[in-house]
Amino acid sequence: MLSKAMEKSLNEQIALEGYASFLYLSMASWCENQTLTGCAAFMFRQSEEERQHMLRIFHYINDVGEHALTPAVAQPPYEWPSIQVLLEQVYAHEQKVSASIDRLVAQSYEEKDHKTLSFLQWYVEEQREEETLMRTILDRIRLIGEGPQSLYYIDKEISAINKIQVAEKAAEGGA
Ligand code: FEO
Repeated sequence: MLSKAMEKSLNEQIALEGYASFLYLSMASWCENQTLTGCAAFMFRQSEEERQHMLRIFHYINDVGEHALTPAVAQPPYEWPSIQVLLEQVYAHEQKVSASIDRLVAQSYEEKDHKTLSFLQWYVEEQREEETLMRTILDRIRLIGEGPQSLYYIDKEISAINKIQVAEKAAEGGA
């Protein structure tokens, strides 16, 4: 059982995670079109992770006897002026998701909804990790700079980060 307000807030979080999955899928497609294959692999994986984040909430709502709703699919952007701008937008989107998770945590406290509070702890940790990852990526990109071969090195760097992430997630037992 959830309060109606909590059911609505969690369904809104499903929509936010679902949108992130589609936004990152669109970004993966743009990267692939730019022959940034390392960045594309990273964004495809991020997209899949967001889908898993969405499904985790989906199952939670239904498991406690409420009704998880499939969100409408909004068309995400599909063009970016540069890979730098694209990655800055990923970071901005992650910050938006973190703020939304923080609001859900605050709501759980207010409602004394301990099971939802406990359920959300995984997301608090996941968001901390995702924000740290994106800050690391943006710092490396700034170090590489914008010289003529920067795209080559950015793609190589993100490909290497992606491979580390895949290995770490596999060691943890999945996304
Ligand atoms: Fe599920 Fe990256 O927010």
